[in-house]
Amino acid sequence: MTSRTDYCGRLTTADIGRTVTVTGWVARRREHGEHLAFVDLRDRTGLLQCVVDGAADLRNEYVLAITGVVRARPEGTVNDQLVTGEVEIGETAVEVLSRAEPPPFQVDSRVDVDETIRIRHRYIDLRSEHMQRNLRTRAKVNSAIRTAFERQEFVEIETPMLIASTPEGARDFVVPSRLHPGTFYALPQSPQIFKQLCMVGGIDRYYQIARCMRDEDLRADRQFEFVQLDMEMSFATGEEVRAVVSEAVADAAEATHGVRPTDFPEITWHDAMDRFGSDKPDIRFGMELTDLTDVFSATDFNAFKAPCIKGILLQGGAEMGRNKLDQLTDRAKGWGAKGLVWIKVEAGGVLNSPIAKFLSDEEGAGVVSTLGASEGDLCLIVADEWRQVAHVLGLIRIELGKPPVNEGGLHFIWVTDFPLFEDVDEAGNAVPAHHAFTMPHQDEVDSMLDAMGDREQLLGMRSQAYDLVLNGWELGSGSVRIHRHDIQQNIFTMLGIGPEEAQRKFGFLLDAFRYGAPPHAGFAFGIDRLAALLAGEENIREVIAFPKSQSGADPLTKAPTPIDDVQLDELGLRVLPPAT
Ligand code: AMO
Repeated sequence: MTSRTDYCGRLTTADIGRTVTVTGWVARRREHGEHLAFVDLRDRTGLLQCVVDGAADLRNEYVLAITGVVRARPEGTVNDQLVTGEVEIGETAVEVLSRAEPPPFQVDSRVDVDETIRIRHRYIDLRSEHMQRNLRTRAKVNSAIRTAFERQEFVEIETPMLIASTPEGARDFVVPSRLHPGTFYALPQSPQIFKQLCMVGGIDRYYQIARCMRDEDLRADRQFEFVQLDMEMSFATGEEVRAVVSEAVADAAEATHGVRPTDFPEITWHDAMDRFGSDKPDIRFGMELTDLTDVFSATDFNAFKAPCIKGILLQGGAEMGRNKLDQLTDRAKGWGAKGLVWIKVEAGGVLNSPIAKFLSDEEGAGVVSTLGASEGDLCLIVADEWRQVAHVLGLIRIELGKPPVNEGGLHFIWVTDFPLFEDVDEAGNAVPAHHAFTMPHQDEVDSMLDAMGDREQLLGMRSQAYDLVLNGWELGSGSVRIHRHDIQQNIFTMLGIGPEEAQRKFGFLLDAFRYGAPPHAGFAFGIDRLAALLAGEENIREVIAFPKSQSGADPLTKAPTPIDDVQLDELGLRVLPPAT
């Protein structure tokens, strides 16, 4: 094979007159007169037009080495969409390095191609400009965060993949043991326990670009296998963890976007829910939830005799038709609202609403002034318990206001003081919102057991857990951990985990803590999610070289596959027919 002298996408008018050899795949072929053809040759840097002998058998995706002379394109044929659009190579000698069957889809035509077919032939899809760009974006993210953590004296430690179950709350993927028939390893849902053991081990600052496995329903921002930047720090506060992580993600954003985000505001979970109706607020746009409870404090309208009334404003929304409003109301009901009240501000400030006759003049004026509405705007109001109001209006806000993924810049926000518990089960046991090792908020530590048995009080308890959110996506979570035995014991009691169960599930961590556990705190963020947002993609599959399809299968390798009887015998396993 003739040696490559240049990459296709890098030749410009400065190279005119040089004899070069380029290599790559045929992206397109067009006939040019009787005896000549244009071949656009593609490599990882881009496309180059090559003028070749029209009789040569050169089809799409053939792999070629072309030697020729760089020359200016004839006038009128310059392509200003291409970096190499002013040049072509002529007087060519073509070497066919590999022939190709007609590909199942055109490279660079992802919108028209079924996802499963793209993944099945991922090696063809990877040749596309956007996959090349996305995977490089991801590599830059990895490199930038690795450098950021190294710079701050974090030690990279690889934790095991064959472990006992970790407490992240999804289903485990399990691996049967051959040497210990009837027993199973779990694949890690995260390195959580091991990084805490590293702190007991005096590592002080740990990080890892860690592969994690969770058997949960796949969505645009979820795969079975994903990668976290996982970190933990001893003798550190939550603020210190947040500062280190902010710096690393700012480095990653700068490396990929060229602009360094400097603003990492913080908001408490309560305020995030109150103002945005979400624990992952998308702050690229306004439409904040505004309290209207006082406006309706003396209302005669039964639906508004509720503990909490809030509204949002859609500027220019008065044009929304009756059908669309009915659909929106149905959706709100689907999300658990008792109803959705709309008020249009029409010409001259006249209010148009199905509940207009129940509104006093003061109430109407109160809504308009509190929400800051003017002519042409639409006010949307929900009344209920605070949680329900926030939840529903938060979803409506996203539905009506969310910009496309690649618009509005990068807006990070830290959400702090998450609730300690997300639910209370039928037996009265609390369900942890993060995990069982999350330190309660300082104000709660001394009196935590008082809340037992009182659902509202339990759900109102705060923790020292925090999330990092980017453009409405949860990028990562972390917390200050419990290092004191008495607090851990209280939490287990509140979760209904008895001493035996605690020992069975987390015994190795609890044992380690008996030998000198430093105070510690940590965090993990999804690299797939960060890379997707930095690449302007809606789905993390677009930044994963070999993802699973929506059904969780891999159309390329056909995994998961049955295994043969010999392997099953070795493992002491029998496969039962699927339950009907
Ligand atoms: P958590 O479970 O919140 O925290 O996970 C942290 C981050 O990992 C990413 N992530 C995922 N990405 C893609 N597909 C998935 N299925 C998936 N699940 C999670 C998200 C998420 O925010 N051990 C704790 C962290 C800690 O406390 O230090 C943990 O894993 O971006």
